[in-house]
Amino acid sequence: MNVIVLSSSPNRDGLTAACATAVLEGIRQAGAQAKEVRLNDLDIGLCQACGNGWGTCLNEHECQEEDDFQPLHARIREADALVLVTPVYWGDLSESAKAFTDRLRRCEAPRREESALFGKPVIAVAAAGGSGGGMITCLLNMERWIQHVRARVFDLIPVNRWSRDYKLVAIREAARAMAEELMS
Ligand SMILES: Cc1cc2nc3c(=O)[nH]c(=O)nc-3n(C[C@H](O)[C@H](O)[C@H](O)COP(=O)(O)O)c2cc1C
Repeated sequence: MNVIVLSSSPNRDGLTAACATAVLEGIRQAGAQAKEVRLNDLDIGLCQACGNGWGTCLNEHECQEEDDFQPLHARIREADALVLVTPVYWGDLSESAKAFTDRLRRCEAPRREESALFGKPVIAVAAAGGSGGGMITCLLNMERWIQHVRARVFDLIPVNRWSRDYKLVAIREAARAMAEELMS
């Protein structure tokens, strides 16, 4: 059982990092394996909208822009579940999360039931450390992404500076429940 936790903040010591740590704790408490991948440490550029809008992503289900996307795409194919933990930027996912998930969606959404993420559970966490606004629009975009790649929403969790303490508990419990379900 292998869960990939994608975190997408440049800040190693902020709210997003605390949420990712809570996820890892929950998964390990269930006795499962989890790896955090910090997207900001990788070189994953923007989709180039090759050709007339679709490149090799449409029919070959591979991205033709060579960077750190390809090895991470391969790891996602092997994963049993995914957790997306993003800071809320402008009511949306951070840029590193957007860049990776946009390219992954292009490769996997056209595969429909053959998607590498088909039926796999996903937890999405939106960490709003500023005004506390924009969590819902951020989660809405993550929910739409989960639907496009034919994965399954396990939970969508908003967290801000004021809800931090009790939401970290909820995040840990959600991750534990997802891992336990996968192992049952
Ligand atoms: C470009 C940018 C846009 C942001 N937009 C929002 C926002 O819409 N709502 C909010 O509550 N915080 C916003 N913030 C604050 C971040 O959500 C906050 O810094 C959060 O804690 C980031 O996670 P971190 O603690 O991992 O750095 C923004 C921050 C940046 C850098």
